[in-house]
Parts: sequence; structure tokens; C-alpha cells
Amino acid sequence: MRSCRPLRWGLPCVPKSRFYSGAQSPPPWRPVSALDQWVEREIRPISLRQLTFFGRTLTEPRLISSANYVRTELPTRIAHRLRDIQQLPYVVVANPHLSLVYELYYKAFEKFRVIPEIRSLDDNDRLCDVLREMLKEHMVVIPNLAMGVLECRELVPHNEMDRFMNTLLRARISRRVIAEQHLALTDTFNSPWHFPDANDRTDMNADFVGEVFLKCKAKEVVERCGKVAQDLMRQTSDSTQIPAITVQGHLEATFPYILSHLEYIVGELLRNSVQAVIEKYHNSSQPPPPIDVLICETPQHVIMRISDQGGGIPREILPYLWSFSKGPRTQSRLENLGQVPAMAATMQELQVSQGRKSDREMFHEGSLDTLTSRPPNLRLGMGLPMSRVYAEYWAGSLELHSLEGYGVDAFLQISKLGNKNEQVTTRAAIDAV
Ligand SMILES: Nc1ncnc2c1ncn2[C@@H]1O[C@H](COP(=O)(O)OP(=O)(O)OP(=O)(O)O)[C@@H](O)[C@H]1O
Ligand SMILES: [Mg+2]
Repeated sequence: MRSCRPLRWGLPCVPKSRFYSGAQSPPPWRPVSALDQWVEREIRPISLRQLTFFGRTLTEPRLISSANYVRTELPTRIAHRLRDIQQLPYVVVANPHLSLVYELYYKAFEKFRVIPEIRSLDDNDRLCDVLREMLKEHMVVIPNLAMGVLECRELVPHNEMDRFMNTLLRARISRRVIAEQHLALTDTFNSPWHFPDANDRTDMNADFVGEVFLKCKAKEVVERCGKVAQDLMRQTSDSTQIPAITVQGHLEATFPYILSHLEYIVGELLRNSVQAVIEKYHNSSQPPPPIDVLICETPQHVIMRISDQGGGIPREILPYLWSFSKGPRTQSRLENLGQVPAMAATMQELQVSQGRKSDREMFHEGSLDTLTSRPPNLRLGMGLPMSRVYAEYWAGSLELHSLEGYGVDAFLQISKLGNKNEQVTTRAAIDAV
């Protein structure tokens, strides 16, 4: 049920105290704002291959041109999403969690849009400081978006809310990819073994180009993520019977990918499987059956099938498996999500108190592992829908087949060649209105 129509100018730029109410009509005198101008710009989607080739010949002019891409692309992308939020009904954007996200985005937009052209390495260092600050500050975005969307579930049809959430999450991934890639390239450029004046290519065999891991080996990712899921359950459940994880098929399958994205998806799937099997065999004298992972490599794709015998997905949840806003467990999800921002803050403090780590380690842990290391009983209902957003981002797919009473088969398809563009919404929703 929709309680009020989306207002074209439902939410002004800032300050918050000047938000228009639903009763007001759009002000015809409204001046063209900076946001309007940035929304006019097109987003320039990138592919994994572009990220890789761009970073391979890393010279100072290339780094500076990467910096200028980031400098103009980030505010463009944020502007489109700010406009999307403005399109929501006033009662929705007035939600405290969503307005917090809006304010964070607006702050970032204002900060980036005034950064002058990057001309030197010193300018680039200053840009990198702003990027790091933004990545850190935006750690609270996912749980706040999720809580906002759940709290507003009665105000907007749930498929619209899910579409909004998907668009915002994909956009968030895209901004982090762009920012993290540039930070990683800057790190590489500044590293002692990089010789920018050597006039030749950087090490062609290097495994990382920025954040892109050229030799992502499916088998190793499954084994590493499987061990994390098993260890977590070993530490947190009273069950001594942890299911084994077997890997079969094309064990040599290797492809370029952003490692943290793949680890997140595979980690969430295995975590669900391990949890389901443990719950089903909790009181059984039998050892739990293994989780079988099959890797299949084709010329275009790598497909991973994760099969468990954890009893399948409860029938009442099945229709809402991919929804951020609807399902029988919304109340408990909300309560659990309420604990996540505090958890993220603690993890961050923990990392800082453990001593300085490299930027790559910090961001790698900061963006995904905070979620990965949450306790298993803190079920947020985010694992599957978020994993699908990550899978589809690089033109892949994620499907689940539940065999009631028996188990689940999850199919993850990765686009192997990395020549597909990121799947982002390139315009603000205003164009569709
Ligand atoms: N392999 C599986 N076997 C049985 N049930 C599953 C399986 N995977 C998912 N489910 C069911 O689907 C629900 C939703 O899964 P999802 O990963 O999206 O969220 P969650 O596990 O509840 O919470 P989160 O992953 O955010 O901590 C789970 O709570 C569980 O009931
Ligand atoms: Mg889960």
C-alpha cells in the first residue's frame, strides 16, 4: 500500500530542517542546484578487464588520470542515487535510518564535487585521504539502509522497496570498487618495487592489479571460505559435529575477479549450508553429511554448485528469500540489524588497536569481513539478497533450488572473461518518471 505519491521534490538538498512536506507542491522557483547539474551527467560503467588493463601500465600520468576519473565519477554516481532517494515518498525519506544515509551521501557529494583537478602526486595523496575517510564513514550504510527499508515496509510496495535497495547496494559496490581500485593502484605506485620511470610495464605476472585478483582459483576460494564458516561454527555452536566440505570438478578453474566479492558470496552460501546441516544433525548420532561443491568451467563462465543436505529452506521463507523488505521474520531481522552498527564500530576499533595494517588489508577487512565475522545466531536475512547483488554486479547470477526436507543446491555463475561491464543503474530514477 502506498501512503503518498512520490514527490518529485520530496527532499531538498540540505539542510534537513527545510524538507518539504507531502502537502506542498514542487516549488516552481527552485533554482538549478549543483545536484541537478551532476544528475545530468552520464555514469561511465567499467569492466574488470578495463580495471586490469588500466592498472597494468602504471605510470604517473596514468595514476593522475585514474584520480581524475574517480574525482568526477564518484560525485556523478552519488548524485544519481541522491536523486533516487529524493523520489521516495516523504514518509519514507523521513525515516531516521534512510535520512542518515541521505545525509552521508550528501556530505560525500559536496566534498567530492569541489575537489579541483588532480595535477600532481601530492594532489592525489589528498584525494586518497578523502577516499579513505569516505569508505570508513560509509561503513554504517548497509545496516542503516536495511533497517530503513524494513521499517518502511508498510509504506511502499515491497517490490519497489527491493528495487530501490538493489539499486543503492549496486551503486555502493560500484563506488567502493572505484575508490578501492584507485587506492590500491596508488599503493602499488608508491611501493618500493614499482619503478614508474622504467618505461616498461609493471610486473606482468603480478597477481593483483589494484583490487583485481587475476588468478582467482575457485577451488582455493571455496576451501578458504569453507574453513572460515566451519571455524566460526566450531567456536560459536555447542555442536562438535561440523560437516566436511568437498570440492570436485574443474579444480584448476582460474579467472580474474575482485577477490573480496567472490569470498563474500561463497562465504555466505557456505555459511548457510554449514548452519543448516548442523541444525538438522544436532541431536543425531550420525556424522553430518558433507557439503559438496562442484566447480564447472566453460569457455565463458565458471559455475559453482554448492549442495547440502541441511533439510532445505523452510517453506514459509521461500517466497521472500531474495527480499530485503518482506518475509515472516522482519521483526527479528530488525532487532538483529540494530546490533550491527555497534558491531562494525567495534571491529573497526579492534583493527586500529591491533596496529597499523596496509590499506589493502584494512579495506578488505573493513568492507566485507565485518559482516562475515558476525555471530551465526545474529541472522540478518541479508546473506542471500546481498550475495545476489554481488553476483549480478559483474554480470553473473545466483540461484537456489530447495529440495524440501532434503537440502539445497545453490548455483553461482561467474562471468569468466571479465569483459562484461559492471551492472549499475546508469541514470537516476527521475528519467523513468
Ligand atoms: N542452505 C540452506 N539450507 C536451509 N535453509 C537455508 C539455506 N540457505 C538459506 N536458508 C534459509 O534462508 C534464510 C535466509 O538466508 P539468508 O542467508 O538470506 O539470511 P540469514 O542466513 O537468515 O541471515 P544472514 O545471512 O544475514 O546472517 C535463512 O535464515 C535460512 O532459514
Ligand atoms: Mg545467511
